[in-house]
Amino acid sequence: MTATRRDIPTRRLLVTGAAGFIGANFVRWWLQEHPDDHVVVVDALTYAGNRANLDGLLGTRCRLEVADINDTGRMASLLRDDALDTVVHFAAESHVDRSIEGPDAFVQANVLGTMSLLKAARTVWLLEGAAPDTHRFHHVSTDEVFGSLGADDPAFSERTPYAPNSPYSASKAASDHLVRAWHHTYGLSVTTSNCSNNYGPYHFPEKLVPLVILNVLRGLALPVYGDGRNVRDWLYVEDHARGIACVIGGGTPGETYNIGGCNEWANIDIVQLICRLLDRRFAADPALGEHYPDAPAAAGRPSTSLIEHVTDRAGHDFRYAIDATRIRTELGFEPAVTFEVGIERTIDWYLDNRNWWETVLDGSYRDTDRAAA
Ligand code: NAD
Ligand code: DAU
Repeated sequence: MTATRRDIPTRRLLVTGAAGFIGANFVRWWLQEHPDDHVVVVDALTYAGNRANLDGLLGTRCRLEVADINDTGRMASLLRDDALDTVVHFAAESHVDRSIEGPDAFVQANVLGTMSLLKAARTVWLLEGAAPDTHRFHHVSTDEVFGSLGADDPAFSERTPYAPNSPYSASKAASDHLVRAWHHTYGLSVTTSNCSNNYGPYHFPEKLVPLVILNVLRGLALPVYGDGRNVRDWLYVEDHARGIACVIGGGTPGETYNIGGCNEWANIDIVQLICRLLDRRFAADPALGEHYPDAPAAAGRPSTSLIEHVTDRAGHDFRYAIDATRIRTELGFEPAVTFEVGIERTIDWYLDNRNWWETVLDGSYRDTDRAAA
C-alpha cells in the first residue's frame, strides 16, 4: 500500500550543503513533496555554493544560514532553537580533481565537518533529549568509497568492502565510518546512502556533463581524460532526492543503502551523445546559432570536432556501477527519469538558464555572496 501524504509525519530538516548541486535539487523537490515541512539550509558558500541555486525557495518554510558545519556550537544551536528533527547532510568538498590538487580542504569539510555535525546532533538529540525519538541523521555519500571495478566485475552492493582511491573518496569513506560509529557507540539514529554520478540542473560546470554542454555552446575544447573508456553510472539528480527520501522514510537506522540508475556509460560515449543532441537542436532551431555563434554547429560542423584526449586523472578509477537491489526490494525505490529524458531535460535547463551559468563562469555569482554576508 502506498503512503498518502497524511500518513507521512511532518519534519523539520537541517539540510547541509544545499546551495550546492544535489542539495539544492533535494530541497526544491522536498518542499514541493512535503508542503507542511520546514527546512533550514546550512551552507558555507564555498566556490561550489551559490545562493541562486535556492532562488524561489527561501521564505517562511525555508531559510539559509551561511555557516560552516565545523562550527559545532552553531550547528547545535540551530538544531535546538529550531527544534529540528532531521539532518540531511550533503555539505562536502565534492570534486575529485580538486582533491588531488589540495586534499586538506577535503579532510576539513568531509571528515571533521561530518564529525562536528554528529557531535552537535548527539548533544541536542541524545544528551539534552530536545527532539522526539523520530530524529534522523541522514548522511549522503558516494559509490566512490568502494573503489574501482573491472569491466566484468559485479556492481557495488552494500556488502562491497571499502577501498577508496582518491583523497576525495578516502575522506568520504572516513565520514561514512564516523556516521556508523555514532550509531553503534552513542545510539544516534543514522542512515547513509551511497549514490552514483548525478547529473541535472544547477550542476557546477567543473564536472563532466555541464562542462561538455557549456564548452560546446562556447566552442571550447572538450577534454576527455585518457582514452575516455572509464565508466560511470548516471542518475538524474531528482531521482537521487527521491531515493534519499525513501531511506529517510523507511530505512533502518544504522544501515546503508546504495542508490543508482543501472545506467553505465563510458565517458567518451556520453561526451559524443551530448554533442549529437546539441547538434540536433542547432539543426532544428536556427536561432541557437545566433545565440551561440562560437558553437561548431552554428557553422554546420559537428560538436565532436571539439573533443581532445588529454592526460589522464591521477589514480583514475576505471568503473563505478551500483547494485540497487536493496533499495528497490526493501524500500520500493525505482528511478523515475530515464537517461534519454534526463539528459534532454538537463540540456534544456542549461539553454534556458544562461544567466545562471554565465555568472558562475565569470565568477560574479560570488559577489552576491560577499555582498550579502
Ligand atoms: P557540490 O560541491 O555541488 O556542493 C557542496 C556544497 O557544500 C556547496 O554548496 C558548498 O558551499 C557546501 N559546503 C562545503 N563545505 C562546507 C562546510 N564546511 N560547511 C558548510 N557547507 C559546506 O556537491 P554535490 O555534487 O551537490 O554533492 C553533494 C553531496 O553528495 C556530497 O557529500 C557528495 O560527496 C555527495 N555525492 C555527490 C555525487 C555527484 O555526482 N555529484 C554523487 C554521490 C554523492
Ligand atoms: O560517483 C559519484 C561521484 O561522481 C561523486 O561522489 C563526486 O562528488 C562527483 O564529482 C562525481 O565524481 P567523478 O569524478 O566521477 O565526476 P566528474 O564529473 O569529475 O568526472 C566524470 C568522469 O569524466 C570521470 O571518469 C572523469 C572524466 N572527466 C571529467 C572531467 C571533469 C573527463 O574525462 N574530462 C573532464 O574534463
